[in-house]
Amino acid sequence: MFNFVGKVALVTGGSNGIGRATALLFARHGAKVVIADIDPTGQETAELIKRERGEACFVQTDVRETNEVQHLVATSIETYGGLHCAFNNAGVLPPTTLLGDMDDAIFDKVLAVDLKGVFLCMKYEIQHMLQGGGGAIVNNASIAGMIADPGISAYVAAKHGVIGLSKAAALRSKVGSSKPHCGEAICQISFANSRRYLS
Ligand SMILES: NC(=O)c1ccc[n+]([C@@H]2O[C@H](COP(=O)([O-])OP(=O)(O)OC[C@H]3O[C@@H](n4cnc5c(N)ncnc54)[C@H](O)[C@@H]3O)[C@@H](O)[C@H]2O)c1
Repeated sequence: MFNFVGKVALVTGGSNGIGRATALLFARHGAKVVIADIDPTGQETAELIKRERGEACFVQTDVRETNEVQHLVATSIETYGGLHCAFNNAGVLPPTTLLGDMDDAIFDKVLAVDLKGVFLCMKYEIQHMLQGGGGAIVNNASIAGMIADPGISAYVAAKHGVIGLSKAAALRSKVGSSKPHCGEAICQISFANSRRYLS
């Protein structure tokens, strides 16, 4: 069904959960995979792919940091010669707290990882995809990007932002060849077995 032979796919948050599963699937369908995560166990995801005779590398990256995201995208180009697909998935879920009781630092961190991180990744991915003739970007939002939950208001705000950012970028970023869809958002409504933490 899927054929990613000859394609380079970047997956953020690829050390664990949905990101790791997506990286493995990209590789099983032929893509060379660049795994990014703040957590160094992303190296294990790369090793898993190599054990299955796929191609992958891990670039430790904090998606909140401009220079680290620039380095990530540049490494994809240098290592595999291009960038065709990106899954911007890195995220944190805050502890349940009503808005009036929330620490400013928690709000700042959730917005920085879950929204600004997606912005930074899209910005540098799109720049390279435009130069390379097109590409596809999928941002991992959440059902919390469409409806509200009072206990996780920062996450709700960030994920609504991811959907808005994706819609805005999709209107502007169509480039070049037949089907570059930069900026589609996935509203993740499944409840995957995941670590829910804010470290
Ligand atoms: N699991 C669910 O049910 C569910 C539902 C809706 C949306 N989502 C979204 O899916 C995505 C993945 O969730 P998951 O359940 O696999 O969670 P997870 O905690 O297993 O994976 C998230 C990954 O993001 C990484 N990360 C955190 N901060 C980072 C940073 N600053 N820079 C780079 N990487 C960072 C973590 O190290 C981790 O590997 C998240 O964006 C989450 O909001 C998950």
